[in-house]
Amino acid sequence: MELQTYKTPRRIGCGKDGVVFQISRDLVAKIGFGERVTFHESEIAERAHQEGISIPVPYGVHLITFPHTENPNPYAGKTINGFVMEKLIGKNGFQLCGPEEVNEAYVLLNMAIKKAVLKGFNPIDSRYPRNYIFTPDREIKLIDFTSWSHRDIPSILRNREN
Ligand SMILES: Nc1ncnc2c1ncn2[C@@H]1O[C@H](COP(=O)(O)OP(=O)(O)O)[C@@H](O)[C@H]1O
Ligand SMILES: [Mg+2]
Repeated sequence: MELQTYKTPRRIGCGKDGVVFQISRDLVAKIGFGERVTFHESEIAERAHQEGISIPVPYGVHLITFPHTENPNPYAGKTINGFVMEKLIGKNGFQLCGPEEVNEAYVLLNMAIKKAVLKGFNPIDSRYPRNYIFTPDREIKLIDFTSWSHRDIPSILRNREN
């Protein structure tokens, strides 16, 4: 299955645990800082999606190819495992405008987090405003599962190998 249609993945986001690249019109790949992070996120996301928690559709871990470039870039010329998921559009928590939108988003965020807890997850960091997206369809999607654990899936927060 060829998921990557962009020859040059476009960097669209980053945080403390990885860099997110758009690899096709509808897909992004998160390259975790360490493969353990990448595989953990994918496993958590698969489970969360199965349980009906509002997250981007996960497509598993796949090799992502980065072309050689003139500018220095740590991924240039490499093929690296990335956690592939649906590309979301929308606003993060910092971009919400006005009390009504904030209210609407927070109600949905609380519902999504409650559901995750009910289904056995510990959704750490989900309230951080860059870790959810409010879509144009007025849905909240949780992203960033690096700190999450599940009653069947241990946390990787300690003893991180990278
Ligand atoms: N599925 C996605 N669709 C669109 N943008 C995304 C998606 N996943 C992550 N991003 C963007 O990339 C940023 C970093 O992703 P995140 O998973 O939070 O990484 P980190 O674990 O490093 O914090 C997010 O804040 C968001 O802007
Ligand atoms: Mg994050």
